Amino acid sequence: MEKYRICGGKPLVGTVDISGAKNAVLPILAAVVLTKEVCCIENIPNISDVSLSLDILSSLGAKIRRLDSHTLEIDPSHLVTHVVPHDLSQHMRASYYYLGSLLGRFGVARSSLPGGCNFGVRPIDLHLKGFRALGAEVPDLPDNGMIEVKANGELVGNSVYLDQVSVGATVNIMLAAVRAKGLTVIENAAKEPHIVDLANFLNSMGADVRGAGTDVIKIRGVDYLRGANYSIIPDQIEAGTYMAAAVATRGNVLVRGVIPKHLESITAKLEEMGATVEELEDEDAIRVSCDKPLRHCTVKTMPHPGFPTDMQPQIAVLLALAEGTSFLTENIWDNRFKYLSELRRMGADVTVNGNTAVFQGVAQLKGAPVRANDLRAGAAMVIAGLSAKGVTIVDDICYIERGYEDIVEKLQALGADIERIYVAPSTAQAM
Ligand code: EPZ
Repeated sequence: MEKYRICGGKPLVGTVDISGAKNAVLPILAAVVLTKEVCCIENIPNISDVSLSLDILSSLGAKIRRLDSHTLEIDPSHLVTHVVPHDLSQHMRASYYYLGSLLGRFGVARSSLPGGCNFGVRPIDLHLKGFRALGAEVPDLPDNGMIEVKANGELVGNSVYLDQVSVGATVNIMLAAVRAKGLTVIENAAKEPHIVDLANFLNSMGADVRGAGTDVIKIRGVDYLRGANYSIIPDQIEAGTYMAAAVATRGNVLVRGVIPKHLESITAKLEEMGATVEELEDEDAIRVSCDKPLRHCTVKTMPHPGFPTDMQPQIAVLLALAEGTSFLTENIWDNRFKYLSELRRMGADVTVNGNTAVFQGVAQLKGAPVRANDLRAGAAMVIAGLSAKGVTIVDDICYIERGYEDIVEKLQALGADIERIYVAPSTAQAM
């Protein structure tokens, strides 16, 4: 099995180019089925979640042609089914976006109920509440692990209040509502940059979506959506991950191809801890450096524009290395601290009290064999390994490669001593 081998203690220095945003491209690929015309999507990151979404598109009957390493032409004119295959949808929660877009295309959609993940229960009650509000029939219970949503006639616009800010529910309701009859209003909507990106893509297809990026999104249904050419926004979480790695290794890194405004909450926290972050507006780039001890601070994850929960494990590594006592509160997920047991194996001094982790900073972490609990926890293990003294072996790297394009190559270009190694299963336990 493949692992990462990291020899830590080297400052990251150089330039890293940020790829397209995973959490923007997944809704946009699902949205392609809303039209019968060809779409050309640029700046698609080469990550396994995208590969899986493309497999779903192919299984539905879409034809996909690669124009270059990050550009695809997708022809959804001859879809053959409204059913997302279980063997594909079970591997990625975001496959449930096809419920909204297939409901919008065909008036019926069927997919497997998404499983949980490594940081707690992840219900979809708000997604289903939205579909019901638009007039779709939604069963109370799944049948054989699958869920089918069906419009009686056509979907009709309605107001939907999201009891909790939910990116997925906001996306799914947008995807179903763009073809519904009349006006849909989503209240308490998610405001993440990827919500705005989806709205921009839908509007480029001829939809009428207003207010994305605020907590009230208004969608006036249209009869027809045309094909569109679109370029995905840069990944704010990938950028934030490299920013945190630059600070953890006391390096100096130019993070290129970003939208600085999307990084404001991350920049603010890194500066509060003593890093220097310089926004080079004309270059769509930011330079992150840190050459002094990190200051303790308090971090609370919140929906955008607050500090993103998807940066929680990454910033935890910095808090573990900051002088004094730091507090990290997770307000989005009910159990997103599992990775801390791995960080403790590297010498972190941290205790968890409810949804708050309390860190007593240590001078340096020590390399150790660790595993990736999930995508962002895995990224945090890489950051910890890059900063630690000695060798760190990261297992379960498949999680990391779901959302980070060419992470080994990008880090090597920054001077990191990291390599992908193959460990035969028999010896894996011994490592
Ligand atoms: C998206 O997940 C992201 N995934 C997650 O990123 C991210 O952590 C999350 O948004 C929050 O920003 C993708 O975009 C593919 P939510 P999602 O619905 O949509 C509760 C990553 O690392 N909730 O905003 O599943 C839920 O339990 C991934 O890239 C309900 O109660 O998250 C959570 O507490 C990890 N009922 C909160 O809302 C629902 O129907 C926010 O969840 C839906 C959600």
